Amino acid sequence: MRENHPVRYDERRRVWDVFRYADAARILSDPMTFSSDPTRATELDLPEPEARGPLFETMLTSDGSRHDRLRGVVEESFRPRSLVPRAPHIRDVADDLLDDVVDRGEMDLIADFAYPLPVVVIAELLGVPTEDRPTFKRWSDTLVETPADTSEAGLEAFARERRRVDDELRAYFEAILDDRRTDPRDDLVSDIVHAESDGETLSHEEAVGFCILLLVAGNVTTTNLLGNAVRCLTAHPDAMARLAADPTLTTTAVEEVLRYRSPVQALVRVATRDVELAGADVHTGDAVVPWLGSANRDPAVFDAPDEFRIDRTPNSHLGFGRGTHYCLGAPLARLEARIALEQLFARVTDVERASTELDPVRSAFIYGVRSF
Ligand code: HEM
Repeated sequence: MRENHPVRYDERRRVWDVFRYADAARILSDPMTFSSDPTRATELDLPEPEARGPLFETMLTSDGSRHDRLRGVVEESFRPRSLVPRAPHIRDVADDLLDDVVDRGEMDLIADFAYPLPVVVIAELLGVPTEDRPTFKRWSDTLVETPADTSEAGLEAFARERRRVDDELRAYFEAILDDRRTDPRDDLVSDIVHAESDGETLSHEEAVGFCILLLVAGNVTTTNLLGNAVRCLTAHPDAMARLAADPTLTTTAVEEVLRYRSPVQALVRVATRDVELAGADVHTGDAVVPWLGSANRDPAVFDAPDEFRIDRTPNSHLGFGRGTHYCLGAPLARLEARIALEQLFARVTDVERASTELDPVRSAFIYGVRSF
């Protein structure tokens, strides 16, 4: 596709798919022409306004000054220097999880390690009880997965479940926001309450959406980064041996996993004017899907793109996006992944796959496996 149909219109989904790095990067770097607000699309089947749920109105789906205002509320907390003091604790969380499984001889990498680690870390940052972990998983899965049963009844049941999860999430965070109003603490929910109560920065709706976005955005993605990392390494034993011998390679290895098996495969933008894209005439209101997974294998940018090289430098992959919406949690995800892999390989030698079955995450844009 990259070579022969770099930008093609898909009649069924009614979107333009974009496969080359240069075009994907151009779209993400020009938010005036390519908006993140899905309601500007003329052809997408969006839920009715009353059924859209709190995630519809977050920084992820906003443009311009509204986006910057929302992102500014928590930006400082996600900077690498703000996260440095958290590293020892993240290491302890990873170690505790491994304590529970290393003597067993066999583990489910996802259920025992890659899922709980980011959930515990973000729950602690937000200031919500980590005991609610199983519920977070159900909520996150429902929000990112596509329906397994696509019959009319199946789709209706799926939409009902989605609405139920929206309501549960809203009630859950409203209670926590209420609590921090009277009892502020040193956590992200308190920062959000503070921005809400100054009356200018955040509306109540936005505050609720904010909490949900932070809980959901970093979990499924980081779980899949860790799962994909171990999958890449078990498939490349030479790379795994090098990494075990020299843990300083973990930083570039994580970047290579983000490129080679990108946890987020695709994003969506909407054209705000008629624009030409690699010879295609895109019209105002058309939805455009830059495929990060494809851009990240573009031979125009990456030498031997289908080779997994743990020391690849430079590695300007688009796995965290680019431009104004560049992943807010990238420094946290990198820190967690580095610590997780270091601890895993320090404590578990002879990592080997127990089963050859792969059970993919059912999602149009998330790439990973459900157990490993
Ligand atoms: C945005 C990927 C982890 C929070 C994004 C975007 C990508 C991405 C591709 C750009 C979306 C767009 O341009 O439309 C990933 C991957 C992760 C990860 C691959 C893990 C490996 C996290 C974590 C958090 C987080 C740990 C923290 C809670 C966010 C937020 C945005 C975002 C809030 C929206 C930023 C904005 O709109 O300005 N992420 N993410 N992500 N990510 Fe991540």
